Amino acid sequence: MAKKDYTNWDRKELIKEIEQLRKRKKYGLVWEYKPEDVVEQCKKELPVLEEVKGKKIITDPDKPMNLLIEGDNYHALSVLNYTHKGKIDVIYIDPPYNTGNKDFVYNDQYVDKEDTFRHSKWLSFLEKRLKLAKNLLKKDGIIFISINDIEQAQLKMLCNEIFDEKNFLANLVWQNKEGGGSSDSKYFRIKHEYILTYAKNIDFCIIEGDEITNLDRYKQEDKHSKTRGPFYLQKLGMGTIQYSESLDYPITTPDHTEVMPKDNNKGKKACWRWSKKKLAWGLENDFIVIKKDKDGIWQVYTKQYLNCDNEGTVIERSQRPFGVIDRYSSTQAAKELREIDITSFSYPKPKDLISYLISRHLNKSATVLDFMAGSGTTGHAVVELNSKDNGKRKFILCTNNELNGEGSSLAVKNNDSDLEKFGICYRATYPRLEKVINGHNKSGGYGGNLKYFKTAFVPADPTDKNKIALTQKVTEMLCVKEDTFEKVKSSEHFKIFRNKKQYTGIIYDHQMINDFKKEISKIDGGFSVYVFSLGDDTFDEEFEDMKKKVKLSPIPEAILRVYRRIFK
Ligand SMILES: C[S@@+](CC[C@H](N)C(=O)[O-])C[C@H]1O[C@@H](n2cnc3c(N)ncnc32)[C@H](O)[C@@H]1O
Repeated sequence: MAKKDYTNWDRKELIKEIEQLRKRKKYGLVWEYKPEDVVEQCKKELPVLEEVKGKKIITDPDKPMNLLIEGDNYHALSVLNYTHKGKIDVIYIDPPYNTGNKDFVYNDQYVDKEDTFRHSKWLSFLEKRLKLAKNLLKKDGIIFISINDIEQAQLKMLCNEIFDEKNFLANLVWQNKEGGGSSDSKYFRIKHEYILTYAKNIDFCIIEGDEITNLDRYKQEDKHSKTRGPFYLQKLGMGTIQYSESLDYPITTPDHTEVMPKDNNKGKKACWRWSKKKLAWGLENDFIVIKKDKDGIWQVYTKQYLNCDNEGTVIERSQRPFGVIDRYSSTQAAKELREIDITSFSYPKPKDLISYLISRHLNKSATVLDFMAGSGTTGHAVVELNSKDNGKRKFILCTNNELNGEGSSLAVKNNDSDLEKFGICYRATYPRLEKVINGHNKSGGYGGNLKYFKTAFVPADPTDKNKIALTQKVTEMLCVKEDTFEKVKSSEHFKIFRNKKQYTGIIYDHQMINDFKKEISKIDGGFSVYVFSLGDDTFDEEFEDMKKKVKLSPIPEAILRVYRRIFK
């Protein structure tokens, strides 16, 4: 960059320049932006949700309503930006890893290894979706993203930009294979992948601890056990591994002899784990035991209390989870699908891995989103986890209806042009959720409720005709937004829905406001009322006498406002 000559700049100009320099990106990720058809489409058409009524499952109206949305997740996330802004507790996604082996589709084409814009396409794809997803998280929300080495580094930098580096929680390592790992790898046998984890806002994020597993070793008790809990003894000697001279000092025993750390039999020097100062603190506060072992040799031990750390701070009966997850293998995941006869999906994740991640969030009524849902493992995990811990979590899954696993070969074999019925949503995601809820020949179901939606479109041009068309199409979206699915009243001019706590009213013709008011005056409870208007008139005056009972919004303006921001 050419050097600037600041000699004749005045104070104001210099301050402005400094501000610009401060704001300038210091380093970062660069890629070639690749236009995407599904994004371009939204300049002409706006996405809405359309229910596939025949696929509704309701076994227990007292349980929360789960949602499955079939369609491109760019469209689904745009809809959710209206219905679920700031309402999601946990997002888990398992995006295509961009292996070059038919796992990543961009503009209806598989991206292969030879594609020079392979990484650019992947980053363009993910950036748009992650930006939309971020808006959906609550302030204490967490996002988990599965990834492997092909895109891990790029994804980390992208997430640092989108979620902010300060909200990075961990790059968890998941050991996905049992045994020796991939034996055909040329250099290292890789048996792990990653789960990049970010908080929406680290100041509000709390991670649920792990249960302490080997409790049986905490067998001894002393006068502190009421507060510190039981303890076990651990030798203070660290051995020879990380020798440090300052940790190599004599400790006086009760009979006034001195003990030194025990050097190994080849004469390699050993040291203690604690410094002299820390030892003095430990002796004073009863964290140190010096006694003879069964061979009559003096030993120095620290007391490892269950409920107190070695700084003297009382801790919970759980511990911060490890960054390496060495449970739940991929083999287990494949078995889980076979058990319920789902053959149309390759490479699922194990449900216990997802349950483990979801339960790092404290909220047992969390709303969990997976917008790369594949075979629906996240839905399965949520339903099963609720049954184990009495939770009331609900899930929102989005997936396209791509061909995968057996579905692709069947479509070719049958030479069938109706590809829809061979896609994963049709053959894997929905049937899996249906079996998990309703049960199948090998086991009873967990019960629960599900609504199946597809994305549909209305013309984007904001003419009066199109605004009317959009309003006719958004009833389901408004029910999703308000979580009110039970129909109370349905007429040509207005509809009323409810859940246990509240009501939603949708008025398609403002001439009928009085009839609507008459109807709701008979009902006790609060109403979210959406009134059709070609502008953004909310008809406050008409509802002046019901101010406390109703919350008014204009449609379609409230939706168009969100879409204008996204599709600008
Ligand atoms: C790696 S798989 C997820 C597997 C899932 N975790 C499981 O356990 O079954 C990624 C999924 O994202 C879906 N997907 C990819 N691009 C998508 C898009 N643009 N919109 C919706 N779904 C998409 C694919 O259909 C694929 O099933």
